[in-house]
Amino acid sequence: MIVLGIESSCDETAAAVVNEKRQILGQSLLSQQEHHAFGGVVPEVAARAHLEHIDDIIKSAVKDAGIAFKDIDAIAAASGPGLIGGVIVGVMAAKALCVALDKPFIAVNHLEGHALCARLTNDITYPYLLLLVSGGHCQILIVKDVGEYERLGTTIDDAAGEAFDKVAKMLGLSYPGGPLLEKAALSGNEKRFVLPRPLIGSDDCNLSFSGLKTAVRKIIESYAEDGDIKNAILEPQDVNDICASFQYAATDCLVKKLKKAITIFKAKYPTGKHVVVSGGVAANTYLREHLKTLADAEGLIFAAPPIKFCTDNGVMIAWAGLERFQKGYTSPLDFKPRPRWPLDEFAPKAAGAGGVKA
Ligand code: KG4
Ligand code: ZN
Repeated sequence: MIVLGIESSCDETAAAVVNEKRQILGQSLLSQQEHHAFGGVVPEVAARAHLEHIDDIIKSAVKDAGIAFKDIDAIAAASGPGLIGGVIVGVMAAKALCVALDKPFIAVNHLEGHALCARLTNDITYPYLLLLVSGGHCQILIVKDVGEYERLGTTIDDAAGEAFDKVAKMLGLSYPGGPLLEKAALSGNEKRFVLPRPLIGSDDCNLSFSGLKTAVRKIIESYAEDGDIKNAILEPQDVNDICASFQYAATDCLVKKLKKAITIFKAKYPTGKHVVVSGGVAANTYLREHLKTLADAEGLIFAAPPIKFCTDNGVMIAWAGLERFQKGYTSPLDFKPRPRWPLDEFAPKAAGAGGVKA
């Protein structure tokens, strides 16, 4: 069974081919550089870049796999949530190929791509506990099966990656800021600035990063005579220390809330074995290490996709598509791309299980 997956929901144009033996046969990925000058992803610029490159990216993934288009059994595309212009580009390309090749189409929720990706690279059985931390989302979920998700908590304001990016931007680091912030933090003192841990004492598994971000802003403002962060005079060591202190606080929030979620997970699923982190922020080694320490202490197995598959890629969409296809969940060709699409919203066995509500 061979599935082609297409990803175009943010600023990566990507495609990959996988099979049911968990082999990545071919892949191709283009990280759009056009957005750097703007300090963030510009939706129209992203959509145009996807349009420009999607055909070549698909062709190159199939060529890399050493197969012909006719050898593909199904074609999956990230069909939301995301920037709708880009999502449409990937979905239309997938549907056109499905019509031309007479193959089934599979609408994959981009978050499901992140959620299932670790099952391609690690031996992880359902159910498992998932911390999904990306640029647009921050959720704790129980993954019961393909398409069966129970959300235990979510951010009530910024996503984790969004907070990393905004703090990095305030410090004059370029975009995307997350990886640059992590690098700067390596040379910083995480105890120098004491930052708040919003919602840490609340009984639920929800998270909040907005107050943490504002606290960082206030520190930076204090380095400017006129209180304007653009005029702040920061030594490189100050930047490193702020990055380390922020990363420490953000990680602390994630670890504490995941600990609460583990208690719920264990009570509901005593046989569950794994704690998984995925999404772009899961590329952060400091976070991975702290989550592993938590999982070890709780007697659970920590797992995460390899760092290169944490940020958006075609492999995760192809793999989620393959898991759906194995269960017989294909989608109708009139499936409409969805800019918003909560992962825990749809019933898996619903007609056209790509996302049609039961
Ligand atoms: O999953 P992703 O590629 O796109 C979305 O679905 O949003 O995640 C991108 C996010 C960005 O906010 C980026 O700054 C963050 O992941 N990110 C990181 C790291 N690498 C990527 N954040 C912290 N540390 C990293 N090493
Ligand atoms: Zn993503």
